[in-house]
Amino acid sequence: MKINITTNNTAARTIIFPLVDNEQLAENLSKIAKHVGLSAETLQRDFKAGTKETLALYGVIEGLEKVYLLGLGKAPKAIDFVKIFRSFFYNSKKKLPKNVGLKLKLAGLEVYTEQIVNGICLAEYEVGAYKTDAKKAAEFFSEEGFLEIQVAENHVESAEKSAEIGHAIAETQARIMGLVDAPANYKYPEKLAEFAAESGKKYGFDVKVYDEKQCLELGLHALLAVGRGSTENPARFIVMEFNNSSEKNKKIGLVGKGVTFDTGGISIKGSTSMSYMKSDMGGAGAVLGAMELAAKLKLPVHLIGVIPSTENCVDGNALKPSEVISSYSGKTIEVIDTDAEGRLILADGLAYINKNFEPDVIIDLATLTGNCIAALGYAAAGLLSNNDELANQLLEIGQETGEKLWRLPLWDDYKDMMNSDVADIKNLSSAPVAGAITAAKFLEFFIDGHTNWAHLDIAGLAFGDSEFAKMKSATAYGVNLLTAFLRKY
Ligand code: BES
Ligand code: MN
Ligand code: ZN
Repeated sequence: MKINITTNNTAARTIIFPLVDNEQLAENLSKIAKHVGLSAETLQRDFKAGTKETLALYGVIEGLEKVYLLGLGKAPKAIDFVKIFRSFFYNSKKKLPKNVGLKLKLAGLEVYTEQIVNGICLAEYEVGAYKTDAKKAAEFFSEEGFLEIQVAENHVESAEKSAEIGHAIAETQARIMGLVDAPANYKYPEKLAEFAAESGKKYGFDVKVYDEKQCLELGLHALLAVGRGSTENPARFIVMEFNNSSEKNKKIGLVGKGVTFDTGGISIKGSTSMSYMKSDMGGAGAVLGAMELAAKLKLPVHLIGVIPSTENCVDGNALKPSEVISSYSGKTIEVIDTDAEGRLILADGLAYINKNFEPDVIIDLATLTGNCIAALGYAAAGLLSNNDELANQLLEIGQETGEKLWRLPLWDDYKDMMNSDVADIKNLSSAPVAGAITAAKFLEFFIDGHTNWAHLDIAGLAFGDSEFAKMKSATAYGVNLLTAFLRKY
């Protein structure tokens, strides 16, 4: 689908008028009524511009096939535009012709072009990638598809830029959703590495992939310990770098949990919902997406992305509870529970990025604990940080992008719960409380006193219910959040 920004009346025979329920609604509806040859009273009575409300008018005027009125509610925020447009285009994509006109000028909605285009482009994504009776793609989203957006003259330039960004972000978000939704036999550490390598090649950033032998040479013992249960799909350590900044203080380090399937290992999970654990690389997905977008949008940042990737499986050789393992940092870890594997591989990722790149800020993202879901549900990811400024920045951006965060404490009150009698630290707290916090305290042990670190526990957000699938599916949570952070940084 191609997008064109225009000030003219569009040639499309299907046009959409998005409308806000505000003081101008009555007047805007009269203008539309006049345009389509209906009475203003009829339109005003039948359409109230409630959120996602739609009114379709067919063949009302010569040359026009369909006119859709799309309600945006009373005071829509930027994120509402993404949601409403994604929903409308998803639900009507089969009905839309190749050429669609979108009138932003009438209600003065040009400033939301990025969100609107982002929502429209996201509507293309479908979860049924493995069905053999693949439905034919909607015309509008095909190569010949064409979206004409009408804006006021003074908005042309900014709308063109915004449309490009909104489209670029959606394209990467959809790629990440495809990756997170991919089943465990289609997605394993080597596949994440391939994704990174291809993305780096296409958009221009460096990618190094370490195989299990090289991981051993590097000393990534905690990652390799988790990987011992997966003889068929060995671990990979992915290091990505994009440097587009001359300033020294702009080095940002991202670490993403890349567990491509989490059975729990020997501390095996129950079978209920275990299939969802294909999404246990949602943190890695967010990091891959942010790397790709930083390069695609040529953001002026120096960005490092590190992904420790492994399966957590069961095998005669698998890691056993009680084992004491080493780690990249040299610190020893007593493994109480092999299902607390994310923190083990992140321990190596964090220690590695810190030592080798010395980033000014480190952000890790991980589908780390069910306990974080117990605390916050599915509305917000947990944010744990040792830096108030960084935490507040992320909280604010989360509100703006709709990828919400809520801060949990990282006080030393919780530190002793991770003390081990036999090793430097243990991987599971001695008490069944505050699991999201104690997991973060474990990670903190491996950042070597870095003072600008944030940990995002995205367990409840990476994979979730939506109107776009019957079962839970990928959300690409974190991709836009990190990109927005990079754009502001
Ligand atoms: N990947 C899970 C966390 C998770 C749970 C993500 C639900 C998404 C949805 C993680 O590796 C895990 O198993 N965590 C355990 C930790 C426990 C053994 C300390 C958990 O939260 O139950
Ligand atoms: Mn686990
Ligand atoms: Zn896990």
